[in-house]
Amino acid sequence: MAFEFDGKVVLVTGAASGIGLAIARQFLGAGATVVATDIDAAALAAIEVEPDVAARWVTRQLDAGSAPAIGEGIAWIELQHGRLDALINNAGLARLQSIAELSEDAIDLQFNVLLKGPMLAARAALPMLERSGGCIVNIASIAAVIQAAGHACYSACKAGLVKFTHDLVKEHPGVRSNVILPGFIDTPILRAYGEGEALETIKRELATHIPLRRLGRADDIADAVLYLCSPYASYISGAELVVDGGVISTTLENM
Ligand SMILES: NC(=O)c1ccc[n+]([C@@H]2O[C@H](COP(=O)([O-])OP(=O)(O)OC[C@H]3O[C@@H](n4cnc5c(N)ncnc54)[C@H](O)[C@@H]3O)[C@@H](O)[C@H]2O)c1
Repeated sequence: MAFEFDGKVVLVTGAASGIGLAIARQFLGAGATVVATDIDAAALAAIEVEPDVAARWVTRQLDAGSAPAIGEGIAWIELQHGRLDALINNAGLARLQSIAELSEDAIDLQFNVLLKGPMLAARAALPMLERSGGCIVNIASIAAVIQAAGHACYSACKAGLVKFTHDLVKEHPGVRSNVILPGFIDTPILRAYGEGEALETIKRELATHIPLRRLGRADDIADAVLYLCSPYASYISGAELVVDGGVISTTLENM
């Protein structure tokens, strides 16, 4: 299945690493103009793209948890490009703490980036998306629907993002909004579990519990995002697409 996004403008948050970078690269390869944003300006600047697509690769530092930055970033897209066809709310981080140890700073940080930011980005982008018949893809997590130690705040924010996606559909039916629930995807965010060889051991152990016997790749999620933004998904709105190699089914099996 080849997707074509010629002439379309796509905004990806958290595009300097992992899943966001894979999404941004796939849209670029499919002909879109990609506004790749991240809080980490140096990591964004270090990304190399082929000369023949460089004119469609636009980078901008944007803190996806900051209301003023989101407002300015989306106003800038309207001024520079005059349109927006897809908003991909992907930026994320994890601060794993038990509920007993949960700090207010960790709650604020995760809430701002994982839930408040996507809400504000959607609110700001909706007028342009309504004009273009565009779409929103929110990147949540299977943590929204399963319990995992130390994930309480992260999980609650992701569950909120799933719920918010359905409200988007109800209040803005002209914009297809969908949410993806990734499982364990091999990206730098997994450093929340450990570093170096210890992390590699955790990943190998995790893979044995995944029905498809491997961690996901960033491109597994990017494939799903491009599908949801493509004409092949023109009747899909309000979908919760689990991309987890079967983890959730295994969890149910053990109940
Ligand atoms: N990797 C997984 O196993 C997994 C599983 C489920 C969900 N997710 C979700 O996927 C999304 C992408 O995560 P990833 O795995 O690619 O992680 P990653 O750490 O590789 O990338 C996250 C990116 O978000 C950026 N970011 C963090 N805070 C930001 C902010 N305030 N503003 C803008 N950018 C910011 C980081 O700089 C980084 O480039 C996240 O929302 C994450 O919660 C990941």
